Amino acid sequence: MKKDFISLADFSPQEQSDLLDLAVALKAEQRAGKAQPRLAGKTLAMVFQKPSLRTRVSFEISMHQLGGKALYIAPEEIQLGKRESVPDVARVLSRYVDGIMARVFSHQDLLTMAQWASIPVINGLSDYNHPCQAMADLLTIREHLGTLRGVRLVYLGDGNNVLHSLMAAAANAGMQLVAAVPDGYKPLPEVVAWAQTRAQQTGAQIELVEDARSAVRGADMLYTDTWTSMGQEAEAAVRRQVFPPYQINAQLLALAKPGAGVMHCLPAHRGEEITDEVADGAQSWLFDQAENRMHAEKAVLVRILGDSG
Ligand code: CP
Ligand code: NVA
Repeated sequence: MKKDFISLADFSPQEQSDLLDLAVALKAEQRAGKAQPRLAGKTLAMVFQKPSLRTRVSFEISMHQLGGKALYIAPEEIQLGKRESVPDVARVLSRYVDGIMARVFSHQDLLTMAQWASIPVINGLSDYNHPCQAMADLLTIREHLGTLRGVRLVYLGDGNNVLHSLMAAAANAGMQLVAAVPDGYKPLPEVVAWAQTRAQQTGAQIELVEDARSAVRGADMLYTDTWTSMGQEAEAAVRRQVFPPYQINAQLLALAKPGAGVMHCLPAHRGEEITDEVADGAQSWLFDQAENRMHAEKAVLVRILGDSG
């Protein structure tokens, strides 16, 4: 049966941990200057409904370095669901390439794509979640702290796609995740419930609070994302009124553990969810995270497109 990469909730704690180990190995291999032709001759179609820097470049370069080829398909080309239906796109692409990575507005479109494609589908972000980002985030935390189990990650801001994947990832990895989110912008209750149930198996702690200042005490790292995700632009002015207490700035960071890391999936809206001082400061892990997108995605690609699985 084909394997998709749609949500970390589809993966057991062991499978997620194995994937992370593979990412660590692939990163070390590349750092040592070794060739990585694990996907020689394989092809990946990259379907985008939204803009991207990291996802587009990291997947394309990953496929290149693994000996395969990636094809970028811009939003206006396919016009997913408008020029052609999602099932038709999925079936046509399945005749040409070995895998599809898609960035979509509606998560349902991704599920439909996976249902109709005879080849693996990778989630490059939907309105619901962003699992490739969460895998890169875990890799970054593990590199900086040496472990995931028990570390305290405090997320500040919008209960969005990035937080949904972070919750699933943290629950699988046995981490403490505190999400400080204002009323009206909470993550979906079913995502929180799933993570809290998984946490009972792994020893993780998943907590939802509102007050940013009390949440950050004892944090090993702080994490934030844009207040206005792609597709929510009409709400930007309202959101700019709600979210300022959740900004990661020097004052808030000072309340966390000394030397606590600062994380952001990027792109950053400097002066909104994060200040320049913090984003460019000594505690920033932002560009390690961006780099680790590539290493984490290589592991996903090798696992689901590779012949050895
Ligand atoms: N973090 C992330 O997914 O970045 P892009 O939107 O640039 O791909
Ligand atoms: N939450 C953001 C993440 C961007 C990588 C968005 O969906 O726009």
